Amino acid sequence: MKILVINGPNLNMLGIREPAHYGRETYADLVKKIQNHCEEKGIGVTLYQSNHEGDLVDKIQEAYGTADGIVINPGAYTHTSIALLDAVKSVNIPTVEVHISKVEEREDFRQISYIRLACVKTITGHGTDGYLEAIDFLSEEYGHDGDLSAL
Ligand code: DQA
Repeated sequence: MKILVINGPNLNMLGIREPAHYGRETYADLVKKIQNHCEEKGIGVTLYQSNHEGDLVDKIQEAYGTADGIVINPGAYTHTSIALLDAVKSVNIPTVEVHISKVEEREDFRQISYIRLACVKTITGHGTDGYLEAIDFLSEEYGHDGDLSAL
């Protein structure tokens, strides 16, 4: 099982940005946490973060034929980007949408998620544990034993 974890804009600022919403863990902490979890479970994982919409589209397209699942936190592009929605639809890879904060209890403009229309599951408000839950879900639903290879 090979999973691609994608983080969008400002998620490189974890630990610094709005800790009341996003906690004190840094992006480097998140990377380590996900890598350790995947190593324990024998899941291949690649992580990618970008502040640029087109780069995120490129990364989703590159996953075609190489990744068995995608975990994505598109940050603010969640609420604006039809291009990311179309990219996930294009590659047809099972994708889980993750948000660290409980978006449904926040501003009205955060209530729209375009990418959700192409996702098999959405996890919100579980902090960074939400990424691990998303990985476990993909592994249980779409994983197959014996494939320990990384992307
Ligand atoms: C977020 C929620 C978004 O509304 C926000 O723009 C982010 C982070 C989250 O993880 O809770 O950048 O996706």
